[in-house]
Amino acid sequence: MSDYRGQTALVTGASSGIGLALAEAFAQRGADLVIAALPDDKLRAAAAWLRRRYPVTVHAIGVDLAVEEGPDKLAARLAELGLTVDILVNNAGFGVYGPYHTLDMEQNHREILLLCAAVERLTHHFLPGMLERGRGTLINLSSVTAFQSVPPMAVYAAAKAFVLSFTVALWAEYRDSGVRILALCPAQTDTDFCAEVGVEINPAGRLRTPEEVVATAFRALRRGVPYAVDGRRHALTAAATRFLPRGWLARTTGRVLHPSKMTRPAKPPRQLPLDGPLDELNVTTITAA
Ligand SMILES: NC(=O)c1ccc[n+]([C@@H]2O[C@H](COP(=O)([O-])OP(=O)(O)OC[C@H]3O[C@@H](n4cnc5c(N)ncnc54)[C@H](OP(=O)(O)O)[C@@H]3O)[C@@H](O)[C@H]2O)c1
Repeated sequence: MSDYRGQTALVTGASSGIGLALAEAFAQRGADLVIAALPDDKLRAAAAWLRRRYPVTVHAIGVDLAVEEGPDKLAARLAELGLTVDILVNNAGFGVYGPYHTLDMEQNHREILLLCAAVERLTHHFLPGMLERGRGTLINLSSVTAFQSVPPMAVYAAAKAFVLSFTVALWAEYRDSGVRILALCPAQTDTDFCAEVGVEINPAGRLRTPEEVVATAFRALRRGVPYAVDGRRHALTAAATRFLPRGWLARTTGRVLHPSKMTRPAKPPRQLPLDGPLDELNVTTITAA
């Protein structure tokens, strides 16, 4: 297991799902943590859970990264705290699902700000320091949807294509810098993602687990590859999309993921097992205001 002692990992969207699993993996390897998400009890619970399990420092910062000024506020708060970011995981995200013309315009805009603008902005805040120090790790969360257009999630898939393209370009640009750069592309994974969407978007097959996604990420970091698709079957499918006509692929996907077929309600968000009521655990979060 690699050793990240003495390093600080900033993981956005670490209050649940893949972000929490990645934060835990870095804590297991000795890194101190800054976890960031919306300022709510989910974030406090995640901070309490991590602090109880790992002998590392855990800062929890409440911030809305789906607004223009969110990433700058987060970076400013870290500077005030005197923290250097050695590992940046741009993971926070949500997906908007449904026929494009029915979607809320403001929610689409927030989705783009969170999935694209915040990823680019936080990278620009923290990558130069890593380059100067000649070491660091940047993981940007893309998705298998980055490899093709996805009709009932048109904005989401396009945003994830941005993350993949952006991150692979940085990987090529800074290959010999000592900074490891990875676009991580999970397939459908068992998290609270669908709870946000409202329906279970899973046409077929077993969901991947956040732990499997983490294992894929660390394997990819060791190998130094620019991007990694989690799960062999999904990696093959993503590779195959290169040889298929984009229009045909989009129409087929649109039929499979058509809202009329996604009728199962999403599972409710899961609760972390804490040893007592949150209020009694005395967990404070800092707000990036
Ligand atoms: N699950 C999948 O099938 C799947 C597949 C491919 C890619 N991904 C990507 O993986 C990443 C993690 O998703 P997940 O599946 O782990 O979902 P999740 O369990 O819902 O986690 C999403 C995280 O993002 C945070 N977040 C949402 N809106 C935010 C905002 N405005 N500001 C700050 N933080 C915000 C959430 O915290 P709060 O809501 O408490 O703020 C939560 O911590 C996302 O980028 C997602 O697109 C997921």
